[in-house]
This record gives sequence, C-alpha cells and structure tokens, in this order.
Amino acid sequence: MTTINKRELIVSAIENGTVIDHIPVTTVLMVLNILGLNNYEDEVLIGINLDSKKYGKKGIIKVRSKYFEQHDLNKIALVAPNATLIVIKNYEVVEKKSVQIPDKIDEILKCINPNCITNKEAIKTQFTVIGKDPLKIQCHYCEKSMTNIRFAE
Ligand code: CTP
Ligand code: ZN
Repeated sequence: MTTINKRELIVSAIENGTVIDHIPVTTVLMVLNILGLNNYEDEVLIGINLDSKKYGKKGIIKVRSKYFEQHDLNKIALVAPNATLIVIKNYEVVEKKSVQIPDKIDEILKCINPNCITNKEAIKTQFTVIGKDPLKIQCHYCEKSMTNIRFAE
C-alpha cells in the first residue's frame, strides 16, 4: 500500500530556477504574460488556489532554469504587489526578495490616448511612474497621465 506524504509540496520543488510565490489567484496568468512565459521553452509549473497561511488562497509559478532581471520582476508589482521571488539553486533557497513598482515601465502597458503614436504605429510603449500609491503613470510619447492601467494585447 502506498502512503501519501502529507508534507510533500503540492507543486513539486525545482532544482534550479525562480519561484514566484504569493501571487493573487486572479492575476497568475497576467504574471505569466508580463514575464513573457507564454513562449518559454523549459518547464513552468503553475498552481492556483493553493492554501496560504498569509493570504488564504494564492497562486505560485515555478520556472525551471530561469533567473530574471530585477527590472522585469518589478513589473509584476502592478498585479502582484505581495509576491515573493525566490531563487533556487541545487534545490536550496539562495535568495528571497519582494517586488517594487518600478520608476519606468516599458512594453507591457497600453496608452489610453487613442491619438498616441504608440496606438498608431508599431512602437513599444514607455511610461514614467509619477505616483505609486495610488498608481499614476505618464506616457513618454504623448505625456498623457493615467491612473487606470491597461495591458497591451
Ligand atoms: N521551493 C521550490 N523548490 C525548492 C525549494 C523551494 O519550489 N527546491 C519553493 C517552495 O515551494 C516555496 C518557496 O520555494 O513555495 C519558498 O520555499 P521555503 O522558503 O522553503 O518555503 P516557506 O518557508 O513556506 O516560505 P514562505 O513562508 O515565504 O511561504
Ligand atoms: Zn501616449
């Protein structure tokens, strides 16, 4: 008869890579998009609605053999401000850090001004964060400022 070890991780441990823990359950897929993981070619493990001591329910993403730039990781603060980033090497936790809303955000957002050049031509968007709480960003191209963020498709 097999016994199930109750202490085993629900989403398996990884040998090397990055774990993004404590993601709100509703934004796990947004985090995947922001980090460009929809076309990543190695293993990505995803858990949604896992029990969490701190937050009730949470999401988690584990990316094998990948270490992100802090700048890219910070972009996820827009949708997962309490996320914990964990660097794993040889199965050990070697670093744990949090995310901060960056001062500049490129590519992932869309300008709300329909006349903005970024909505007419294939130009990557660039925003300056002019307020973090509440969030307020300003388009580098048309200078329109906005408090509602929209993600580029
Ligand atoms: N983890 C992993 N692979 C490893 C080691 C850890 O996927 N080889 C994951 C664990 O699943 C956990 C996270 O990395 O989600 C952090 O690991 P650890 O610090 O051991 O967990 P906790 O003490 O539960 O951390 P916290 O209290 O911050 O949730
Ligand atoms: Zn604009």
